[in-house]
Amino acid sequence: MEFRAINTVPLEWAGDALAVGLFENALELTGDLAQLDSRLQGTLSELIAEKKFIGDVGSSAVTRVGSGSPVRKIIIVGLGKQDKLKLDVLRRAAAIAARIAKKEKCQTLALSLPIWNNLPENTVQALVEGVELSLHQDNRFKSSPEDQEVSLQQVDLLGLVGQEEAIARAKVICSGVILARELVAAPANSCTPVTMAQTAQEIAAAHGLLLEILEREDCEKLGMGAFLGVAQASDIPPKFIHLTYRPEGTPRRKLAIVGKGLTFDSGGLNIKVAGSGVETMKTDMGGAGATLGAAKAIGQLKPDVEVHFISAVTENMISGRAMRPGDILTASNGKTIEVNNTDAEGRLTLADALVFTEKLGVDAVVDLATLTGACIIALGDDIGGMWSTDDELANQITQAAEGAGEKFWRMPLEEKYFEGLKSPIADMKNTGPRAGGSITAALFLKQFVKETPWAHLDIAGPVSTDKENGYNNVGATGYPVRTLVNWVLG
Ligand code: BES
Ligand code: MG
Ligand code: ZN
Repeated sequence: MEFRAINTVPLEWAGDALAVGLFENALELTGDLAQLDSRLQGTLSELIAEKKFIGDVGSSAVTRVGSGSPVRKIIIVGLGKQDKLKLDVLRRAAAIAARIAKKEKCQTLALSLPIWNNLPENTVQALVEGVELSLHQDNRFKSSPEDQEVSLQQVDLLGLVGQEEAIARAKVICSGVILARELVAAPANSCTPVTMAQTAQEIAAAHGLLLEILEREDCEKLGMGAFLGVAQASDIPPKFIHLTYRPEGTPRRKLAIVGKGLTFDSGGLNIKVAGSGVETMKTDMGGAGATLGAAKAIGQLKPDVEVHFISAVTENMISGRAMRPGDILTASNGKTIEVNNTDAEGRLTLADALVFTEKLGVDAVVDLATLTGACIIALGDDIGGMWSTDDELANQITQAAEGAGEKFWRMPLEEKYFEGLKSPIADMKNTGPRAGGSITAALFLKQFVKETPWAHLDIAGPVSTDKENGYNNVGATGYPVRTLVNWVLG
């Protein structure tokens, strides 16, 4: 897809579809739009009246323009109230326009926004993201893809000249989001610990990152008993992935991103029963997928920040070698864990990943994980949970997520609930009571971070969606790559 930010006014643009953004209750056409409307013999005002269009967020309408006109279709998209305009409204509006243009078999699309001299910072980036992400379709596993005919090829952003850098930045970020989506969407017989390591290798080679892969024996030497306990029943070797992006010169900060990487979670001997969503557990490497997606984007954006991308990747399987309920594992910081539920495996893999990460001496660590069903119960499908030992880091994440249009809600690290993880025989159990299950999971992780500012993001809900939603299509969302990139750049 080619994007151009050009100074053409709507009236002078020629192409397949012209999409006009309109604020709620500000539908009186003035200036350029009034001229356009009269040139189109009132098509625009008729469309508004006929569809009872009021410009609320998410609304849209489309009509054909009579032959002889330089444009074939006119699309109107609601932007809501002007004083409530957020970047994500623009991202979604661009997605709506792109989806309509695609459906109407348009090859060229122009986006025209009101108040173009007074738009939020990063508007162009958000528009490009909205278009790219809404049009991304994963046809890798179809023998004959449905939509191969005409496709959108060029998008012009009218009145937004000189924004080449923002366009390039958006495309790079989308390449990371799309990588994360494709890793999450790939089934567990296609995306394995071995292929995840290969993907890390490709990113390292393409964008000049350092790559270290720890094999099972290397992890044994480091005493990663928690990670290896989870990995021990799988026939596919575990891979501990550590990618490093180092800027030229002295880095302004050193950060780490740690992703849960279960390419499949059967539950282990506490096997997931029918109805538990076991058939969706290929998405249980969503944290690692987003970590690699962020690495791909950061490797191209080249900020003045050192970033470590870490994931302990394995499957959680069953066999004669499987970890048993009740087994006691020793993590690489020496702490012992009574595994009272083999399905609480993500926290075991993250325990050793966090201990490894803290030894790197970074300024802050963020982990992301499809960690608990309890977090979905608490916050639903669209909002991730955030826990942090550090208010400043929590605020940085909140801000980064706001700009990204990805939602997180800060949850409490309620120390008293750690009582639920007390074990009579080991230092702790890996599972507490049902109530507050996402909080005890976070408290478990906290045992493996000593003093580095740390935030934990539970992305079990938003990692995928079962309905088309804004610029997200059904399936993997690539959440929260954009938040991570904003955080690193911020
Ligand atoms: N991968 C799951 C969490 C999950 C559930 C993600 C649903 C996405 C959708 C995790 O490993 C798990 O099984 N968690 C258990 C923990 C329980 C045994 C304490 C859960 O949430 O039921
Ligand atoms: Mg599990
Ligand atoms: Zn899991």
